[in-house]
Amino acid sequence: MADALAPSVDQSTLAPMPETLTITDNRTGKQYDVAIKNGTIKATDLRQIKAGDDDAGLMTYDPAFMNTAACYSRITFIDGDQGILEYRGYPIEQLAERASYLEVSYLLMFGELPTAAQLAEWTDRIHHHMTVRPSVQDLITTFQSDAHPMSVFQSAVAALSACYPEAKDVASEAVRRRQEYRLIGCTPTIAAYSYRHAAGLPIVEPDPSLAFTENFLRMLFKGEGEYQADPVLARALDVLFILHADHEQNCSTSTMRNVGSSHADPYASAASAVGALYGPLHGGANEAVLKMLAQIGSVERVPEFIKQVKNHEALLMGFGHRVYKSYDPRARIIKKTADEVFKVTGLNPLLEIAVELERIALQDDYFVKRKLYPNVDFYSGLIYQAMGLPTGMFTVLFGIARTAGWLAQWDELVQDPDQKIARPRQIFVGPARRDFVPMAQRA
Ligand code: ACO
Repeated sequence: MADALAPSVDQSTLAPMPETLTITDNRTGKQYDVAIKNGTIKATDLRQIKAGDDDAGLMTYDPAFMNTAACYSRITFIDGDQGILEYRGYPIEQLAERASYLEVSYLLMFGELPTAAQLAEWTDRIHHHMTVRPSVQDLITTFQSDAHPMSVFQSAVAALSACYPEAKDVASEAVRRRQEYRLIGCTPTIAAYSYRHAAGLPIVEPDPSLAFTENFLRMLFKGEGEYQADPVLARALDVLFILHADHEQNCSTSTMRNVGSSHADPYASAASAVGALYGPLHGGANEAVLKMLAQIGSVERVPEFIKQVKNHEALLMGFGHRVYKSYDPRARIIKKTADEVFKVTGLNPLLEIAVELERIALQDDYFVKRKLYPNVDFYSGLIYQAMGLPTGMFTVLFGIARTAGWLAQWDELVQDPDQKIARPRQIFVGPARRDFVPMAQRA
């Protein structure tokens, strides 16, 4: 319906806005018209801009991909300035409140919320792919108990590639689907096995009759008797998994897409994504936050630590984000989830330090000017620790959740006719051609 207050404009009298960019190359005086589509110019359109015959053409220099779109995607939308995150158009707040992790994984993969029958089938398929082969189990048990759980997780995910050679057929939708069920289904099993192996506990087999996170908690924590997961903790974990399920073209997802672009199988691609997630600037931040809080040790020492951060001597882990320049919407939901979890587990003593850090940082000029706010990892580690998980496992939990997003993005990539093998360019600034120097003549 037309807006009654808007001035009426005869659209037919307006010249259409040109969707082009005119570039003048001041080296040659030549002008070029480059098409603009969806607010973007094609980087390869710049190659026609040449200073001379031996010039290969203009490129853009964009380390860390600060302003380069590498794909069209229909999966996740982020507005970093406004703190908006949507999966397939659905706000993260509504999904965290009303959906389950498996429902969200279906949404990420297929673009629509499942009907009851679709969710039942999806759940059934995933639950029936929870068991891992004995060879993967054996692999996990060959690691020493002090091996970092992310290294074990990455190795085990890579090993799935050896178990399922059919996964190489990435062009087949049916084959892709089977690996997707399996990866979503068995990552919690791999994580739980590695946790129990490191703790010297016997392995607990998955129970497909349980809900996704209930089964995971049981595989982690079951003792001699029967184990019943606390429903508040199981739901909290499900919410954390929803919040971590996808985040468009972040470091690990771009890795998944990059490796996937060579048509490597999804296990090889996901193992690479796990490697990217491991780093403390990405998923490893949840572990790093806990270490930081433990190092600070008390609320009284928070101002001293903030001083170090402002002197660039330390990073405030769990703060800052490449895309969010206002509050990370996931952090807000996590804070609420933390309150619910702590009612069951008792307060995490490090929470007081975290709250004080956040209070000071949010009013300090250093953080305000740089638009640094708590990100998804600032509070998630406190919840995992309260649930009884060792810090090394935190990023693995992130990896389990992000598996759904990695696979949805990989599936989209494989079907995208625009995509080719990923291959960034470089600007060579090394030595010009020179002759080999024999050993005796080297300085
Ligand atoms: N603590 C202190 N200062 C920070 C922080 C931080 N956490 N993050 C950024 N800054 C400062 C930088 O030192 C820089 O200051 P300067 O302009 O004086 O040099 C400025 O803010 C801009 O920072 P960049 O590093 O350019 O921001 P970028 O977008 O490249 O980095 C990142 C984003 C990696 C998340 C960064 O904020 C960071 O290292 N945070 C801590 C690690 C973390 O929590 N990572 C998890 C991110 S969420 C996720 O991956 C799940």
